[in-house]
Amino acid sequence: MEKHVPHGCPPRVLLFPFSEQGHVNPFLKLAELLGLGGVHVTFLSTYYIHNRLLLHSDVQSRFKTYPGFIFKAISDGLPDDHPRSGEKSYEFFKALNVVTKKLLKHMLASDELGSDISPSVTCIIADGLLAEFTTNIATELHIPIIHFHVISACAVWALFSIPNLIENGELPIRGKEDMDKLVTGVPSMEGLLRFRDLPSFCRTSDVKDPILQGIARESRQCTRAQGLILNTFEELEGPILSHLRTHCPNVYPIGPKHTHLKLKLAKKEVISVQSTNSLFKTDRSCMAWLDAQPLKSVMYASFGSVAVLTRDELIEFWYGLVNSKKRFLWVIRPDFYKQGDDAKDVLAELLEGTKERGYLVGWAPQEEVLEHPAVGGFLTHSGWNSTMESAVAGVPMICWPRRADQQVNSRYVSEVWKIGLDMKDVSDRKVVEKMVNEVMVERREELVNAADEMCKLAVKSVSEGGSSHCNFDRLIEDIYKMNK
Ligand code: UDX
Repeated sequence: MEKHVPHGCPPRVLLFPFSEQGHVNPFLKLAELLGLGGVHVTFLSTYYIHNRLLLHSDVQSRFKTYPGFIFKAISDGLPDDHPRSGEKSYEFFKALNVVTKKLLKHMLASDELGSDISPSVTCIIADGLLAEFTTNIATELHIPIIHFHVISACAVWALFSIPNLIENGELPIRGKEDMDKLVTGVPSMEGLLRFRDLPSFCRTSDVKDPILQGIARESRQCTRAQGLILNTFEELEGPILSHLRTHCPNVYPIGPKHTHLKLKLAKKEVISVQSTNSLFKTDRSCMAWLDAQPLKSVMYASFGSVAVLTRDELIEFWYGLVNSKKRFLWVIRPDFYKQGDDAKDVLAELLEGTKERGYLVGWAPQEEVLEHPAVGGFLTHSGWNSTMESAVAGVPMICWPRRADQQVNSRYVSEVWKIGLDMKDVSDRKVVEKMVNEVMVERREELVNAADEMCKLAVKSVSEGGSSHCNFDRLIEDIYKMNK
């Protein structure tokens, strides 16, 4: 039965991200943006995320200033030590679709997610990876739902096109010999995407693979939602956004979200000093180390919150960085090595050999690092948040994509936006050394010029009158309209 919101209540939006840093971070930025727009927010995450967030971030104190803000947790039915990613990710998806789905429906139906002033959820903003079951619940309970895909529009579009690729016989990929051939089944990307640039889920020999099928199904759910939010901007991905709009008419590109938030906070004269949405313990000592380095001299290396390296890959990257003779700051998370590999011992040796020109940390304040004047390049796994953060900071990239959307992002970085180099599927010390030198010296000017241009467009889009700024105003208006 449809619920009636008491007259005069502010809208209450439920935000529900997927359980990973790369999803939680942009969802929290969205939460702040909505809070600044007067919307009451309930931020729901699994206990696995909720507990880590409260431990390592400053969200609890920061969000106190937003009226009606509530943090809530929900079970995913898995034990604490379950990795929830990699080979076990299918188990995780299954648990969410069974355990979490049931709990969420109950919480929404019994108004457990509201407050005295705004008791009922009037709009759900759910992660694009959780789209199917949340949309089913929203439909049953007559609550409007908007999806938020934290990845690029080009990656969303490639995922959306998976059924086409299966239908036209391009999936499964026939073999290694086809990896450099061009794909025809992703409209508007013909002549650009090779098979190796397709989302990693496509690298399966069986098109009935449950992960491939699940991802394809989730990405098509946006046609059932009232809207689709993306952390991108019209000037960056306009042609792809037009394609998406033929299927999901109400698309809100409101990125780059971190810059958008920064400008809105500055306008309200809120200075957010060293705020963090981190699920890991941040080591800020690298900022003092960066302060002591010359201008644009440091290659920052980080592969995000999920990527895992083998012992051999770790060694190749280390030699590549050291042999390049450039300074480097490298994030090596404690869970960075493939289980069973004795990379920990190797690391101790590497650490000793790093002292001269390098610095290692377990987790860095990345946004601040990328904006530091000493940073001249970024060796990245091409997660979408990292890509946007680097582009806005005007820092050229070396891309080493690992999984999911990253293969598509890195292709766009190197071939369309021309703000970096794509090292996809190679982890050889000689190639690493060569690319570090290209980014830091040989091709520096052209890459930095392109990155600077991108940065200007990004800032314009989130400034008063810019495309993302206007799209966000429209989102807020639509959320208020749903509040009846
Ligand atoms: C995940 C997926 O893996 C990625 O493909 C998708 O695009 C987004 O969700 P993740 O792999 O963690 O994300 O990468 P990324 O999108 O780059 O997000 C990582 C976030 O953690 C960034 O916002 C980055 O600033 C932050 N970070 C990373 C830190 O704050 N410190 C670090 O040391 C490393």
